[in-house]
Amino acid sequence: MSTTRFTRRQALKLFGMGAAGMAMAACATPPQASQPSQPAQPAQTAKKRLEIFSWWTNGGEADGLNAMFEVYKSLYPDVEIVNATVAGGAGTNAKAVLQTRLAGGQPPDSWQVHAGRETLSYVNAGQMEPLTNFFKEQGFDKVMPPFLLEQLKINGEIWTVPVNIHRSNVLWYNPKLMERIGAKQPPATLDELFAMAEEFKKAGITPFAVGGKDKFEASHTFESILLATFGADDYIKLWDGTDTMWKDPRAEQALLTLKKLFSYANSDRAALGWADAMTQVLEGRAAMTIMGDWAHGLGISKGLKVNQDYGWAPTPGTTDTFMWLSDSFGLAKGAPNPEQAIGWLKVCGSKEGQDAFNPKKGSIPARTDPDLKLYDDYLKASIADFGSKKLAPSPAHGASTTNAYQAKFHNILEVFSADLDEKAALEALREAAADNNR
Ligand code: GAL
Repeated sequence: MSTTRFTRRQALKLFGMGAAGMAMAACATPPQASQPSQPAQPAQTAKKRLEIFSWWTNGGEADGLNAMFEVYKSLYPDVEIVNATVAGGAGTNAKAVLQTRLAGGQPPDSWQVHAGRETLSYVNAGQMEPLTNFFKEQGFDKVMPPFLLEQLKINGEIWTVPVNIHRSNVLWYNPKLMERIGAKQPPATLDELFAMAEEFKKAGITPFAVGGKDKFEASHTFESILLATFGADDYIKLWDGTDTMWKDPRAEQALLTLKKLFSYANSDRAALGWADAMTQVLEGRAAMTIMGDWAHGLGISKGLKVNQDYGWAPTPGTTDTFMWLSDSFGLAKGAPNPEQAIGWLKVCGSKEGQDAFNPKKGSIPARTDPDLKLYDDYLKASIADFGSKKLAPSPAHGASTTNAYQAKFHNILEVFSADLDEKAALEALREAAADNNR
């Protein structure tokens, strides 16, 4: 019942037997005393390498990644890490670059991939090694919640090591601007949200900052509105690979709600990335934005304090639900440096690695044994919510969607952000539904 597909040579190398075997071979060969002496040659040992591919370039994201690199370097000081990042939130740009590399047979050793349905895209294409045995050997199956372990399984195997859980359905707001309109609490329902937006507008304050430059900001906002409109139980059916739920009148209603939200937002959406939009809220240039809690990571990276310099609430209408997504790393089939990649995956799943990464990234650890002292009030609340709320998967971040579907989902919503044509968007969403099967 072996689950890994390493060749014997790779397995020996990966699990440390290659070096021992080589040492034994060296001992077995006696020095050749009779040979003429050779001039001394400079040692030609090429530095070992590890290439990690991700889209973590913004404040918080990059800090978290570097913190994990530091842990790796402390364990493997002789390895040079190649930090291969391609900017663009949600990986909209990175995934295209990765596809080209994979198609050309030039994989990085390990790449960022969302746990859940997104992983299926790489598994089906035969681009990843299964990690079920590795997972057990490391004891990761004992320290991660059963819910998450289930999400990692495809065809009975685990393929990636999750480093975190992010929450997608979060409304970030500027408390000083809230005070300016006399609001005591953040909005809890969509009606309250729009009533407040109206007040901001009257006060000459931009109610919502929304991006579009990273080509996922509209779909990100939309997934929260879908959840608020359908409720967690029906929302999940939107991702079943059929257009049934997209024919439900609530689908058009959700698009109309998004259109209404855009009417209170900046019109230069295509010019702003998610981090620019969040920065507008942090700097008091806009009142609110809906974004995953990597936006909290951005706040942390700017030295700001949550619940003081900026506030948060679940996206209105979704208070009972935690929309989750998880960043993970896998092992490339044909990885140029498999031994180093295995070391990296050990760090990814370790308590030390996760406790270094997550407090900076704005996410909670995938492990259940974090050192809570390291986590701020928001993250502690998020850990509690993940354990107690209903869980719904994020389509914009691969928990419930394949890469093929996601690309269309992002694109349809970015087009909608510009043309506001709900009929066209709805038709495109119905047509795209089947792409979530491949
Ligand atoms: C998500 C990813 C997060 C964060 C975000 C913005 O897809 O899971 O870790 O990086 O994109 O870039």
